[in-house]
Amino acid sequence: MNTMKKRQGMKLLMRVMIGISLSIPFLATAQSTASIERMGAANTESFDQGWLFSRYGLQPDGTRIEEPKNLESVSQSDAAWQKLDLPHDWAISGPFRSDLTGETGKLPWRGIGWYRKHFNVPATDKGKQIFVDFDGAMANAKIWLNGQYVGTWPYGYSSFRMDLTPYLKPGQENIIAVRLDTENWDSRWYPGAGIYRHVWLVKTNPVHVGHWGTYITTPTITDKKALVKMAVTVNNESAKKVNALVQTTLFEMDINNKPKKKVATTKAEVIELAPSSTKVAEFQTTVINPKKWDIVSPNRYLAQTTISIDGKVVDTYNTPFGIRTIEFSVSKGFLLNGKKVVINGTCNHHDLGALGAAINTSALRRQLKIQKEMGVNSLRTSHNPPAPELLELADQMGFLVWDEAFDNWKEGKKKNDYNKIYDEWHEKDLKALIHRDRNHPSVFIWSIGNEVPQQRDVEITKHLADIVKREDPTRPVSNGYNDPDASREVGSPVSLDLMGVNYFFSQQAKWEADPRYKNMPTIGSETASTVSSRGEYFFDDKYNKKTWQISSYDDAHPGWGCTPDEQFRTNAKFPKMLGEYVWTGFDYLGEPTPYNSDDTNLLNFRSDPSKMAELQKKLEEIKKNNPPSRSSYFGIIDLAGFPKDRYYSYQSQWKPELPMAHILPHWNWSERLDLITPVHVYTSGDEAELFLNGKSLGRKAKKQGVDFRLIWDDVKYVPGELKVVSYKNGKKWATDTVKTTGEATKLTLSVDRNTIAADGVDFAFVTVKVTDKDGLTVPRTHPLIEFSIEGDGEIVATDNGDATSFVPFQSHERPAFNGMALVIVKAKKGHKGQFTVKAKSNGLEMGKVNVSVK
Ligand code: GAL
Repeated sequence: MNTMKKRQGMKLLMRVMIGISLSIPFLATAQSTASIERMGAANTESFDQGWLFSRYGLQPDGTRIEEPKNLESVSQSDAAWQKLDLPHDWAISGPFRSDLTGETGKLPWRGIGWYRKHFNVPATDKGKQIFVDFDGAMANAKIWLNGQYVGTWPYGYSSFRMDLTPYLKPGQENIIAVRLDTENWDSRWYPGAGIYRHVWLVKTNPVHVGHWGTYITTPTITDKKALVKMAVTVNNESAKKVNALVQTTLFEMDINNKPKKKVATTKAEVIELAPSSTKVAEFQTTVINPKKWDIVSPNRYLAQTTISIDGKVVDTYNTPFGIRTIEFSVSKGFLLNGKKVVINGTCNHHDLGALGAAINTSALRRQLKIQKEMGVNSLRTSHNPPAPELLELADQMGFLVWDEAFDNWKEGKKKNDYNKIYDEWHEKDLKALIHRDRNHPSVFIWSIGNEVPQQRDVEITKHLADIVKREDPTRPVSNGYNDPDASREVGSPVSLDLMGVNYFFSQQAKWEADPRYKNMPTIGSETASTVSSRGEYFFDDKYNKKTWQISSYDDAHPGWGCTPDEQFRTNAKFPKMLGEYVWTGFDYLGEPTPYNSDDTNLLNFRSDPSKMAELQKKLEEIKKNNPPSRSSYFGIIDLAGFPKDRYYSYQSQWKPELPMAHILPHWNWSERLDLITPVHVYTSGDEAELFLNGKSLGRKAKKQGVDFRLIWDDVKYVPGELKVVSYKNGKKWATDTVKTTGEATKLTLSVDRNTIAADGVDFAFVTVKVTDKDGLTVPRTHPLIEFSIEGDGEIVATDNGDATSFVPFQSHERPAFNGMALVIVKAKKGHKGQFTVKAKSNGLEMGKVNVSVK
């Protein structure tokens, strides 16, 4: 009742200023080219280098190696262990195995992994607090230092801190040991395995700002000024009572994350702290003429907090943040700084294709850049806490983030899901997510779940929503429902601020009128689930059960999904909806629906027995055929980062001001002479005329709100040139041309960035195209390509976007897939200058591209 009343009066006015970003302000970080600021103590250093690794339990070939006892012990020899640097995903090197399930990528990710690192801290660090911060370790992490047990954190997606101080030996060698176990973990997608995110060593004085110890909000913002409030958690880990002087200075932050002009300073406050105690000190100040953060101009500030004792600074803690307002309402939609923004979002899993789960900032930045160009303005971190870098990049590049915690609560979708740890860990994991992420201006919605089996549970929903609101009342709480109607019926969403609907919009009108929900905005938390393979076009069936590819006419989707066009129609029908998150932006490892034998997909039809039976039958058939499919077909962009046709459908809607037109399919159909070969056009224009070899095939107009592509479905194939001219408001707007190509004659290479850093972790992405003599990409060609490097560079991985390929991602040889392949390269650490990436194939002229290293 209470909640209902609250809801009715609620407009969800959330004025927040926020921003975290994990970083080491003022220090150049080892892992990135453009600096990534890391929220936290200035004396944070990368702890990624020089680890040793050994794998037990299940091995890549399916055999088992018994796990020896006491691997944490100091006397344990690790001389034979594999040397490596983090982040590390022990499963991405495969091999792909046909006996493994497609839903987790046919990769051998299950096993027991041990990591050890020998390290020294100088004797002068005696008396300091020394912490190790893990951004994420998959899964069931247990940590020891010098043979002593330090602690555990089971959820592989959470970031966590371990206090090494009690067992650390400054001035001597220390050994940290980490045991990970993915045998006791389940997943509906490829989770990766290992310490797959960054690790940091943090050294502080005994009196210091706590872990994620700043929380910044901006309760009032006008164009003239912003009130900045700040809660600072101060820890005194000494045995003495102290008087700590705490003060924060705010700076503007430039696009390179460097602090610039000083804009405000809080009052200095003296805080009395008893021995071994913690206090939260509250401050406020005003920023005059604030430069707001938004998705076009992602302005940020840096709050630098210092703690001084007896006139000496003992801790400096940096918090990047942004000043912006967010407001959600049924009547006005979502407003960012008072301006309506329709959410054009994508859901994405955390893997980076050929790189697996191991985080790499340049790979993630590339993913976001490709999506930005398509018009994506929001990202849903399905279905778990993201890497800190995702939020930092979202802040920097201007994306709004739906930050999600769980795929399961007490009840799992699989045996060993989060259900195993829910009771003990849900509050800790939720707090870890919110405390880590609540200063990021990009984060604008918290999600407590995705299609959790207990979505109808009123009590659990309220319990989780209450935790979130307690930890951060400045953003709405949502949940992604795949049974939105039954859930709304029983009332579980009433404790949320925002209704997240996955796929099932048919009763939306009814709920928009229901008194319980009529003031609760709805968002399409998951939509479309269209499936396709880049460059494949079929004319009879959408699915090819021989090659296990799916037609790229963008008309295939599982029962619960729809085409982009259908979803655009739904969105138009319910204009109060805040927007959508398409499943998915990028293809990801695992879940190769419809060639997936994952029976949790049945969940999508829980309320429809006949559909369930139908799907069950399909599953039996798939299991029998054991398709080689190991990565998804859902991506708008393929696993290698090459846009599929759908990319242009979204671009035409999400970037309406961009003059663009895109023709599909390609025009190399020698076997289809005079056969009907439909031509589809995506355009941001409203009309278009299609020409085949100069002859008009007619001008067609879109019906507003109904047509989202133009179709000429009676085109008879003859080789030559297809050209489309699109119009907007009667004026010529954009053109696109597709030509029948000649024979493949050469390989043509291009690189996403010509200059990279010599830090060994800055990657460049080289696109290889199989081209004819005129430089046109030849579709339907799959020549075997051999990649090599001349100079001080290295090949990190290769890919081609084919969801059925078993060629390991580390291979330096791979066939092109429909005329394209990808090589990911990096410079050898410390080697500046230049290297050349080469691609060779029998009978084709070699291609090369230079990469400079600074
Ligand atoms: C949804 C689910 C996603 C993914 C998707 C595939 O129901 O939330 O994780 O499985 O289906 O269409």
